Amino acid sequence: MDIRTFATAVETARAVALRIARAVGEKPRVVLGLPAGRTPIEVYAELRRMHAGGLDFRQVSTFNLDEFTGIDASHQGSFRHFMDLHLFRGVNVDPARIHFLNGRAADLDAECERYEDEIIAAGGLDVQVLGIGANGHVGFNEPGDTLVSRTHRVALHRVTLRDNAALFGGHPDQVPREALSMGMGTILKARTIVLMAIGERKARCIERAVRGPLTTHLPASFLQTHRDAELYLDHDAAALL
Ligand code: GLP
Repeated sequence: MDIRTFATAVETARAVALRIARAVGEKPRVVLGLPAGRTPIEVYAELRRMHAGGLDFRQVSTFNLDEFTGIDASHQGSFRHFMDLHLFRGVNVDPARIHFLNGRAADLDAECERYEDEIIAAGGLDVQVLGIGANGHVGFNEPGDTLVSRTHRVALHRVTLRDNAALFGGHPDQVPREALSMGMGTILKARTIVLMAIGERKARCIERAVRGPLTTHLPASFLQTHRDAELYLDHDAAALL
């Protein structure tokens, strides 16, 4: 893994935004996989500033990693709402090229298959940007005895409900218990992976992801098997390396 560390969270976010801007510059029709979560908020703010300065997203396609089930895209807690707020309202991605899992689909398993097909039809993910959960989850691929390769339904862990509580007024019990997520195989098929982590809370899972054995109990450890995985860490997240 290619590990890059930065003194501050803001510098880390700027570096990730520059990496994404480079991908757009090299391939205007780039296909990006994007995460929600607190970690990328400053990256998206920087991309909005870059767009104001001329960076053109018109031909870019995006696929978000995951979405909660049982809530509408317009719900304040949905990742779709999050992305509209932090990125899409401030850049010129064509709405027809913004792809999301629909957590309200009548047949959720069919919805997961549709998403896999859409990614393939778009030519596959060029750059998958990732955050990491404190328990080592990526997307919503939770630690456990097995990992699912394809896009699938997930029962969320207690830690993850707490991690996402901010989107639901700070109440973990208000977070939907289930989500849809790209699978570990979907993520690992991306040509380039850019994982970003900020803060001391992520130091232990970053250490295990980089140094530890490959284990389904730390899904991010599977990034070790990818030939082009870049890690962007602030000083605190890299503290145990
Ligand atoms: C959620 C998302 C993940 C994200 C994680 C970490 O569970 N599904 O994609 O990486 O939260 O969130 P944060 O960046 O807020 O720490």
